[in-house]
Parts: sequence; C-alpha cells; structure tokens
Amino acid sequence: MFSFTTLLSIAIAARAVAGSPIRSRTPYVVKETHFVPRKWKQVGQAAEESTISLNIGLKQSQFDELERHLYEVSDPDHERYGKHLSVEHVEELVKPSAESLDMVREWLLENGIGDLSYSAAKDWISVSIPLQTAEQLLDTKYHVYEHEDGDRLVRTSEWSLPLHLHDHVDAIQPTTSFMRTAGQKTEFLQFPPWVSPEYIPPTNATISKVCNISSVTPECFMNLYSTKGYKPQATKFNKVAFNNYLGEIPIRPDTEKFLAKYRPAAADAAYKFPQYSIAGGPVQDGPLNYSQAADGISREANLDVQAIMGISDPTPVVSYSTGGSPPFTPDLATTENTNEPYFVWLNYILSQPSIPQVISTSYADDEQTVPKAYAERVCQQFAQLGARGVSVLFASGDRGVGINNTCLSNDGKNTTMFVPLFPSGCPYVTTVGATHQFEPEVVAFRPGYYAADGSYREIYSSGGGFSNYFSTPRYQEKVVSSYVKGLGGLYDGLYNKKGRAYPDISAQGQYFAYFWNGTEGVISGTSASTPLMSGIIALVNDVLLSHGKPVLGFLNPFLYSKGYKGFTDITSGSAAGCNVDGFAAKEGWDPVTGFGTPIFPVLAELAKGY
Ligand SMILES: *[C@@H]1O[C@H](CO)[C@@H](O)[C@H](O)[C@H]1NC(C)=O
Ligand SMILES: *[C@@H]1O[C@H](CO)[C@@H](O)[C@H](O)[C@H]1NC(C)=O
Ligand SMILES: *[C@@H]1O[C@H](CO)[C@@H](O)[C@H](O)[C@H]1NC(C)=O
Ligand SMILES: *[C@@H]1O[C@H](CO)[C@@H](O)[C@H](O)[C@H]1NC(C)=O
Ligand SMILES: *[C@@H]1O[C@H](CO)[C@@H](O)[C@H](O)[C@H]1NC(C)=O
Ligand SMILES: *[C@@H]1O[C@H](CO)[C@@H](O)[C@H](O)[C@H]1NC(C)=O
Repeated sequence: MFSFTTLLSIAIAARAVAGSPIRSRTPYVVKETHFVPRKWKQVGQAAEESTISLNIGLKQSQFDELERHLYEVSDPDHERYGKHLSVEHVEELVKPSAESLDMVREWLLENGIGDLSYSAAKDWISVSIPLQTAEQLLDTKYHVYEHEDGDRLVRTSEWSLPLHLHDHVDAIQPTTSFMRTAGQKTEFLQFPPWVSPEYIPPTNATISKVCNISSVTPECFMNLYSTKGYKPQATKFNKVAFNNYLGEIPIRPDTEKFLAKYRPAAADAAYKFPQYSIAGGPVQDGPLNYSQAADGISREANLDVQAIMGISDPTPVVSYSTGGSPPFTPDLATTENTNEPYFVWLNYILSQPSIPQVISTSYADDEQTVPKAYAERVCQQFAQLGARGVSVLFASGDRGVGINNTCLSNDGKNTTMFVPLFPSGCPYVTTVGATHQFEPEVVAFRPGYYAADGSYREIYSSGGGFSNYFSTPRYQEKVVSSYVKGLGGLYDGLYNKKGRAYPDISAQGQYFAYFWNGTEGVISGTSASTPLMSGIIALVNDVLLSHGKPVLGFLNPFLYSKGYKGFTDITSGSAAGCNVDGFAAKEGWDPVTGFGTPIFPVLAELAKGY
C-alpha cells in the first residue's frame, strides 16, 4: 500500500509531468547510501559499455508469516515441530504482491528493459543490461573500487529509485555491497605448531592415545564427541552438503589420501560425492595441477570435505561450487563479473524440491561491508531454508572480536567498535566457533607470528560477537542478557547489547590433519569446526530418520530450549581481538563457544525425545 506522502507526491508529479513516461511519475529519491568500507578506494570510472547483471529484490509479501512458520516447525514444544514446509508453500509465502511485480516490471519496461528473469518465488528479478542503462535506472554513477589486496569491484555508494517503488523493492545489487566472502581458515603445513604453555595433556587413556595436540584427526573427534561406533542407518535419505566459493574445489585424490589414512573404510567416498557446479563454479576429479597448487587454491575446500567425511561417513556428502564471486580483475575494463556471493547459490538451492538436510558454509565477511537491507534479504533466504527443514551452519570467524587496530565503524565516524561478521550474525543460521585442547577443551587460539618465509601470520582466535543489524532473537534472549549482565559494563559501547549474538555452538578447530596437493599438513579455523559440526548434526539426523522422525531443521530454537544439554560447556579462553581480550568463555552460553562442544549420544537422545 502507498503511504500518504507517496500518494501525495504521485499526485504532484502526475500534474507536473502529465504525458511524460511513467519513469518520472514520481521523483527519484535516494533509496540507499552505504559508506565505502575502509581498505577500498575508488580507482576509476567503470567502463560504460560493460554490462552488469542487476538483481532486484522485491518485497516479500508475507515474510512475517514465513518466520512464524519457521519458529513453529523448529520449536520442540510446538505441536508443529518437525512439520517442515514444501518448496511450494515457502514460495507462496515469499512471493511478492501482484502490485509490486506490476510496478517494478512497468518501471523496467519504461526504461527499455524487457528481458527479465525471475527467481523461482519471483522475489528476485535479474536483468543483464549495459552499465550506462543501470546508471540511468538507479540515478547513480558506478566506479571501480580496489581493495588493499588487489581485488576490484564495480560499485557505487548511493542509488535512487522513483518514490513509488520504495516500498516495493528491498534491495538492488550489485550496488553498494562490498561483501566478498572469505574462507575462515588459517595457516597450514606448519610443523610443529605453536602449543599453549598452559596445555595440560589429557589423563583419560583413550583420549590421550587418539588425540594429538599438534595434529587432530577423525579418530580423536569420534572419541571426544562420542560418535565412535555409531553406524549410520538412514544413508538412503540423509545428506550433508558444503559450499565452495572463490574458485575452491574439493580435490578427490587428496581426500582419498586423507580418508585412507584416517578413516580407511570411507576411502571410496572420496570419488563418489557429487560436485554441483552453479553459475560456472569449477569442479574437477583429478589432483591439483601445478599452477593451481602454486596459486594455493583448495585448502578451504579440502578442509571442508575431509572434516565432514572424516566424521559422518557413510552419510552421503554433496558439494556445491558457485561461480561468479568477485575474481581478481586487474584490468579496469574487465570488471563485469561482480555477482554477490550468496545470491546465486541461494536462488539455485531454494528452487530445488529436495535439499540436503545439513549445509555447511565456512565463508564470511565483515557485516559492515554489506548494506543492511541486503543483509536482511540474504538472511531471510536462510530462513526459507530453515522452514524447509535444513540446518544451515556458518563459521563464526577466525579473528576474535576483530583484527587489532582495524576495529572501527564504517559510518563515516570511525568509532572504535568490535567488528561482527555476516552471515554469522544472521538469526536464522547456526554459527559455529572453534575449540582446542581436550581435557578441558578451551577456546581456539594461537598468537601472531612470523613464518619461515618472513610473512606475518595473523593471530588466530575463534570469532564471536553481536550483530549490529539483527536484534537478539527471542530464542537466545535469556542467555544473552545474562551474559551481558555478567560483563558488568566491560566493553560497553564497543558492541550492540541488543544484537543477535554468536556463535551458538562450537567444535574442535585448531591443527586439523588434512591433505593438500598430495601432502599431509595441518590447518586451523572455524572453517574446520563448521564442517565437523555439520557432520555430527548429520549423524543426529541419521538417528532421527532411522526412527521415523523428522530431521532437526533450523537448530537454534531446539538448541536454546533443550539441545544445549547435549553440549560440553567451554569455560576457558576468549575471543581475543581489537587490542583487548575480547568476550570470555564462561559457565553457560557465551559469545565465544556458544553452548560448547557436542556429546553425540546425549544430543541424539534429546533430539529423539520430540
Ligand atoms: C603428533 O602430531 C605431530 C604432527 O603431525 C607429529 O609430529 C607427532 O609425532 C605426533 N605425536 C604423536 C605422539 O603421535
Ligand atoms: C575416556 O574417554 C572415553 C571417550 O570419550 C570415554 O568413553 C571414557 O568413559 C572415558 N574414561 C574415563 C575414565 O573417563
Ligand atoms: C590447471 O587447471 C586449470 C583448471 O582446470 C586450468 O585452467 C589450467 O590451465 C591448468 N594449468 C595447467 C598448467 O595445466
Ligand atoms: C604440489 O605438488 C607437486 C607434486 O608433488 C609439487 O611439484 C609442487 O611443488 C607442489 N606445489 C606446492 C605449491 O606445494
Ligand atoms: C575515517 O578514516 C578514514 C580512513 O581511515 C579517513 O579517510 C577519514 O577522514 C576518517 N573520518 C573521520 C571522521 O575521522
Ligand atoms: C593485539 O593486541 C593485544 C592487546 O594489545 C596484544 O596483546 C596482541 O599481541 C596483539 N596481537 C597482534 C597479533 O598484534
């Protein structure tokens, strides 16, 4: 519906410009302004003759209703628990109103744009148009921006829409989003790794035998989290998937070497998992070739696939490789490939009638590189996955509350603050932090150091924090306010006390044994914890499916009401960063390790109870 002011301006505009195109039916008014993030600088004009693929997010007609369904089917105390929605039902709820569809189509047609493609739910329209047309359409000017690390994007800091469309369009990208998703992994091939002087070796004979502080393996995780001996039964129905971006490819021969050494019965699986290529995302069956290895690709993808398979085999694993993420484009004229990282994958996966029940993503970026409206839209699409019964897991990041000396706001004021990540701070995903050591497990941490080649390796510290965009969801209100109260004012002003806090849970994430380019090494990060946890959630789903019960779906309402009893509380360490110790782990939930690390049999029993 129009607001009063919109009606008024239409009336005025119509009188003033009677007979002119509908495009000018209402005046253009700025729809979104977003500061160019620090580290990016404008390096030149975008080539006018280049094309841009604009994605227009129409207002979803009944997102509130979708959210209500999501919370009902995910709440173990609700009678609808586990009654997940079909693709048709979700699409019905999020499709835009006929009025929004008509008005936006009319506006595009008036601008000579007729070749529109729609997402399955029609909530996104994509058009491929000359940059110049996009500039007229949005009354803006695109420029080429370059990051300190050399990446380039074609973006703008402000765009406008005719006023009568403001309530019908949530977001249009690429415009102001500088999100570049990055794998949350750190260091590799470092022998021997740094070990805390406070490390106490385990006294439990089993743990002591299978867990090596310098190189943790599936045998260690199986014992530590008590999945050892569990034989998956529902492998016909159950799946666990992981996402690859930025040209990452899970390398089969490396995976086979890893499994042959650490999970021999699973070695065949290395050649069996399907790799889906979306929007030209790379896939291959053979080893890394010389130039791929020299470029250092696939460390992230190898870690993800090996961490999942090491724990969840023989549960079928699925790999998605999405292309179109910002590549390094050194030439001002060739900056066309500027897709948003999650957009393509989400629209692909949401159109599928059947989706793997658990999906692991180890990629994230600073929340403030993403304009709020766009972050909200992406987050809403994760909610759609949740409503369909999918557990969506994201990494909490590897830099504690933020990297030293870079913890500033991006609002033009340079206010000192902690730097939360996205999508880690989206309330509809489950965010996973990292632990280290065994008895007890503590927050994963390694100080910064100079590597043999003289390069500086950043501090590694499991990420945690509070979103500045999303408010505390009801499911975590109690534990978050109690944690905030316990801080007694510490860090006041540096974080949003009323924000969605993360992570929700955690798992081992330091010095994972893994294979890359044919060689064994170790690698760390919440990028390790997230696929490991995803594999364990897949095992819980296996228990449920083999008892004829629905899968867990969106985990958080279950975790915060009952599931937390199936986790070992982590109480030592902190999310160090931003030149301070950061949020400390403590008894109960905390924004460093969430509820802690899984105890599979207890978690499975709790889940089975509903
Ligand atoms: C622990 O792992 C490191 C790194 O792989 C290895 O050098 C060391 O021998 C292992 N220790 C034991 C007791 O297996
Ligand atoms: C040692 O750890 C194993 C694996 O978690 C567990 O089954 C066993 O009960 C533990 N033993 C003792 C004495 O705590
Ligand atoms: C390595 O593989 C990539 C991807 O298939 C290919 O583009 C490249 O040309 C290959 N390089 C060599 C040296 O074979
Ligand atoms: C990858 O492995 C090949 C074959 O062993 C080796 O020649 C090459 O140096 C390795 N590359 C890197 C970057 O380690
Ligand atoms: C904020 O920092 C940026 C670069 O670090 C600088 O260009 C800008 O002038 C600063 N703004 C204020 C208000 O201090
Ligand atoms: C970050 O800052 C803290 C506190 O000032 C300091 O102890 C730590 O060494 C710094 N880390 C790095 C990697 O510079």
